[in-house]
Amino acid sequence: MKRATVLVSALAALSCGPSGSSGESPTYCEINLIVEKKCQRCHTDSGDMDTPFNLESYDEVMDQVMAIELVIERGTMPMQVTMEPPVEPLTAAEKEAILDWIDAGTPQGDCE
Ligand code: HEC
Repeated sequence: MKRATVLVSALAALSCGPSGSSGESPTYCEINLIVEKKCQRCHTDSGDMDTPFNLESYDEVMDQVMAIELVIERGTMPMQVTMEPPVEPLTAAEKEAILDWIDAGTPQGDCE
């Protein structure tokens, strides 16, 4: 019983430690710029390809955040298809920013 309590509080400390403890985490404001450039070409109603969902707002990105983490880790998005102009992959820095943002608890920021 005691042990379980200790474990739970240790986990809580890990997942909600003071924000920015490991430097500045990006907010949705920065992530949105990447999504606009690298994802919205397809993930909108008028996109170049039919996609199962749009990525045009914080809420739409949040609905897919688990799947987004997976595709970033696996490197399967942006989908590599032959198009003109060519589909640009994410840079290492962009991938890192998205994963850091998810790790930090997807802060929305203040960019409106
Ligand atoms: C060239 C077009 C294109 C671009 C650019 C693109 N996607 Fe996709 N994406 C698709 C299509 C098409 C699907 C549907 C795939 C399917 O049904 O198999 C998809 C599906 C997904 C899925 C669902 C999981 C999956 O693998 O099917 C996620 C999550 C996703 N995209 C995230 C992203 C993110 C994040 C970006 C930007 C970093 C991005 N996509 C850029 C075309 C694109």
